[in-house]
Amino acid sequence: MDLDLPAISQLLARAAALESQDPLTRDRILLKRRIALLFYESSTRTRTSFELAAKSLGADTTLVSSLSSSIEKGETLKDTGLTLRALGAEAIIIRHNSSGAPWLLEQETRLPILNAGDGMHEHPTQALLDLRTILTHLDLSSKTVIPSEARAASAAEGSAVSSSTLSGVTVTIVGDILHSRVARSNMLLLPRLGARVILCGPTQLLPDSAANAGPGISVERDFEAALRQSQVVMMLRIQAERLAGLQIDLGQYKDAYQLTGQRLAAHAPKALVMHPGPIIRGLELTAGVADGPQSAILEQVRHGVAIRMAVVERALTAQPKEGRA
Ligand code: NCD
Repeated sequence: MDLDLPAISQLLARAAALESQDPLTRDRILLKRRIALLFYESSTRTRTSFELAAKSLGADTTLVSSLSSSIEKGETLKDTGLTLRALGAEAIIIRHNSSGAPWLLEQETRLPILNAGDGMHEHPTQALLDLRTILTHLDLSSKTVIPSEARAASAAEGSAVSSSTLSGVTVTIVGDILHSRVARSNMLLLPRLGARVILCGPTQLLPDSAANAGPGISVERDFEAALRQSQVVMMLRIQAERLAGLQIDLGQYKDAYQLTGQRLAAHAPKALVMHPGPIIRGLELTAGVADGPQSAILEQVRHGVAIRMAVVERALTAQPKEGRA
């Protein structure tokens, strides 16, 4: 996440403006500009929302995914990138299983590159849409986060963020922190706005050293103790595809870390429940919690489109070097 607070404020303001703009004028902003989506890993929310965001601004998009392209035949990232540029792509949105792939692609193509998730490293647009979700539930005067049914007017949504916007707000991130680029991007972003971030999970998925990850970040192994301090609870999926030999006893995991209706009612009855998706019902959280009144999971998805419109617009209207979010 290499955006400063003024740039983040500007993106949030543009997201709000673009979301409410008439679709018939909005689609002139990037009319016929060419954007390639290069996806080496599967994705539902991120890919679709980037694509819909780019199309909402009038851009032409094309999807290249590892299973139906020459990537399967062994073509390198460099050659795929150069090919997309030769085909007229003016920006590339990339998801890759290797950390750092967006930087390599930028170096090779000199195009604006948008990171849609790189390995276990970062997922910047997810953190931005998570921030927007939190801001829409933040009551600025009392500095409290109000869950869905009692949602405050979203005064915080369009205003500039500062290093104290989220002071007094505690966000607990729960589960497979070790493999989560979503956790990493949120850990980099939220404390910069004054939030306290508690990381919660078993040692296998959350090493003790994570407590030194940065200012405002601490580790709490006891889920219920963490819940009692939280205004926002961000649940994560166990990333089976990245466990690399780690054996997790799912029964034990659920006993200690599953977000159930009972736990939520007893320890965090007013907290906002978030999850980047895909959710595994019955594992990290119960279906009742996912569908319940405290859940902001589908709102997060909706904010993804607005945030990505702002990010795509910025990439294609700023200097190429500033294109990466
Ligand atoms: C996440 C991802 O791919 O990093 N999902 C997302 O983009 N919304 C998290 C996950 O896969 O569990």
